[in-house]
Amino acid sequence: MNKTRFIVLGGLIAIFCFTGFCFSGLAIGAEEACITCHKKVSPGLVLDWESSRHSKEGVTCSVCHGENHTNARDFKKAILPDEHVCAQCHEKQFNQFMKGKHHFAWKALNALPITHVEPDELMEGGKGCGGCHNVGVKTKAERMDLHKRGYRYQNNACDECHTRHSFSKKEALDPRTCQRCHMGYDHPQWETWESSKHGTRYLIKEKGELPKNAQAPTCQFCHMPNGNHDNKTAWGFIGVRLPLPKDKQWAADRVTILKALGVLNPVTGKPTARLDVIKSVDMVRLTDAAWKTQREKMIKTCSRCHSESYAKRQLAYGDSMLRKADRLMAEGINIVAGLYRDGIIKKPKNYAFAYPDFLYFMRTGGGNMEHMSHIDQVLFQMYMKHRMRTYQGIFHLNPDYAYWYGWAMMTKDLGEIKELAKTMRATAKIEK
Ligand code: HEC
Ligand code: HEC
Ligand code: HEC
Ligand code: HEC
Ligand code: HEC
Ligand code: HEC
Ligand code: HEC
Ligand code: HEC
Repeated sequence: MNKTRFIVLGGLIAIFCFTGFCFSGLAIGAEEACITCHKKVSPGLVLDWESSRHSKEGVTCSVCHGENHTNARDFKKAILPDEHVCAQCHEKQFNQFMKGKHHFAWKALNALPITHVEPDELMEGGKGCGGCHNVGVKTKAERMDLHKRGYRYQNNACDECHTRHSFSKKEALDPRTCQRCHMGYDHPQWETWESSKHGTRYLIKEKGELPKNAQAPTCQFCHMPNGNHDNKTAWGFIGVRLPLPKDKQWAADRVTILKALGVLNPVTGKPTARLDVIKSVDMVRLTDAAWKTQREKMIKTCSRCHSESYAKRQLAYGDSMLRKADRLMAEGINIVAGLYRDGIIKKPKNYAFAYPDFLYFMRTGGGNMEHMSHIDQVLFQMYMKHRMRTYQGIFHLNPDYAYWYGWAMMTKDLGEIKELAKTMRATAKIEK
């Protein structure tokens, strides 16, 4: 228990007198008023709070929201608590959270050029990209800016898994809590896990049709072992890392991918300013040691149910699959890069280089953005959808995602890219 928590709880205990019922003083009057009035204006919310550990521990409305708002008109005086308020009593989880990846989510979102040309509803409004990336921490300045522009909510990161106002541990332990964000187009972890051996067994067990001790790991079991809020994986989302591998072909292919991510200058091969941005949100493991730490942590987790050598072998399949996926990917990038080089695709003016740029996603114009060619869109899909599925499918043990939705689609994309490039070159020749 840290100092602040002691003071807050101490204060609460002091205002309870010994009968436990005879509330005294202004604070308790206000507290009752919050609950009485909110039972009328938002009864569902109060029911959730009443179901929480907090309601039993004296963590009342005003502990989190302050006491300045007292009637139906002055509600804007209520504090909308950010994660630092939770940290006052849950320092351990807060500190772990700040070491993991989730707290970077808002910063990582804003680091992408695409974010700043998309509709606000999809960002600040908390739908679309912002609806998932608000698990990240916002700086005070970012919060002020959002409030000024009318986006008053989404201040708290912890309640993405511990839904307000029940703030439950049990709910956070359910894999469906992760499903909301870890699903779909570019990160189908839910789908891959749910229909893997691990997931199907978990679902059968949930129905009570397996012995209680039957083992079936959840997302939390593998990614938050022992309740640790510091979540990070070896390869991360984009599946590239440093230093470059010893395998010469793989090293060359990864360099090609890093160029298409705008992290290396396509002409000189030197790092660009984007590398610093990617570093600042811990998007890639930058050293062997950083990668190994995460890999070893995972092997330890697998080894709770499997033999260590089995687990190592299984994870090594994921690594070698990435190497093979990168071969196809680099071939696709090089074909499209050749079209830029030969002036067949013109450099969009917002691009830094005449080279494919994955961080602009699939724009077809609008804002200050120019139209992206169809072949660029196919290339982007090959990277963001099919390469992701290929290796994520292997790591989450899903045969169908790894093959049909992943690898098979990458080969189809590459075929399409080759065909499109041929046609584009032929057309350019005729036009000349
Ligand atoms: C007399 C009724 C009343 C009392 C007393 C009251 N509230 Fe409210 N409160 C409201 C109403 C009504 C709203 C919603 C206003 C709206 O969105 O139209 C509200 C909104 C809020 C909000 C949301 C603020 C926002 O920006 O949307 C919080 C948080 C809140 N109340 C907490 C409290 C707390 C804590 C107390 C006690 C210290 C309290 N309320 C006392 C009626 C009351
Ligand atoms: C443990 C802290 C905590 C306690 C206790 C708490 N709240 Fe909240 N409340 C939050 C958080 C966090 C948010 C979301 C803030 C955000 O992200 O902008 C919130 C949001 C709200 C909102 C606005 C959002 C909405 O869904 O309408 C209202 C109204 C509200 N609380 C009322 C109450 C009332 C009434 C109580 C007491 C019965 C209460 N809160 C107790 C933490 C708390
Ligand atoms: C004034 C202190 C205080 C504040 C502020 C506070 N909590 Fe708690 N919280 C407690 C206490 C006390 C418990 C029960 C004992 C424990 O688990 O530490 C608890 C329990 C919990 C639990 C476990 C619930 C369960 O089902 O077992 C979660 C999750 C939680 N709090 C999240 C939050 C979040 C998120 C916030 C901020 C929005 C927050 N708390 C703010 C004091 C606080
Ligand atoms: C509100 C949306 C949301 C929820 C809910 C959520 N996540 Fe995430 N998660 C994200 C986002 C966004 C990122 C990427 C953040 C970043 O790296 O900047 C992420 C990153 C991760 C990573 C790090 C991957 C890497 O780069 O190494 C892991 C592991 C993870 N989440 C696991 C979980 C688990 C397990 C749960 C459920 C207990 C969960 N997440 C719930 C949105 C969410
Ligand atoms: C359905 C929820 C969801 C939506 C919508 C979403 N993201 Fe994400 N995003 C995630 C999750 C989850 C991760 C982590 C995935 C992983 O590690 O496999 C992530 C990862 C990222 C990362 C990499 C962070 C890192 O450090 O590895 C960036 C950058 C990003 N998203 C940007 C965006 C942008 C820009 C948009 C909108 C155009 C967007 N996201 C829409 C959930 C979402
Ligand atoms: C049996 C353990 C296990 C379970 C269960 C599991 N994962 Fe994973 N997860 C892994 C492994 C292994 C990796 C790859 C780690 C690496 O990069 O070496 C991974 C990678 C990830 C990543 C990073 C990007 C990627 O997909 O490679 C995210 C995000 C993630 N998992 C989220 C989840 C979510 C959400 C769930 C539940 C729906 C889940 N995981 C279930 C073991 C697991
Ligand atoms: C990605 C989802 C996720 C987010 C975000 C998250 N938590 Fe948790 N939290 C969990 C899970 C899962 C558990 C249960 C861990 C276990 O016991 O294995 C948990 C447990 C807890 C507990 C109960 C600890 C205990 O053993 O009684 C507290 C307190 C808590 N979290 C606070 C926080 C705070 C504070 C934040 C924000 C800084 C936060 N959590 C953000 C998923 C999350
Ligand atoms: C909580 C226990 C548990 C953990 C942790 C766990 N597994 Fe499993 N796993 C099982 C069970 C049970 C099965 C089904 C029986 C079997 O095939 O061994 C299984 C099956 C598998 C299979 C066979 C899948 C198939 O489709 O036939 C692989 C491969 C596997 N696990 C790899 C891993 C890896 C890699 C990790 C760590 C990232 C891991 N497991 C973590 C319990 C676990």
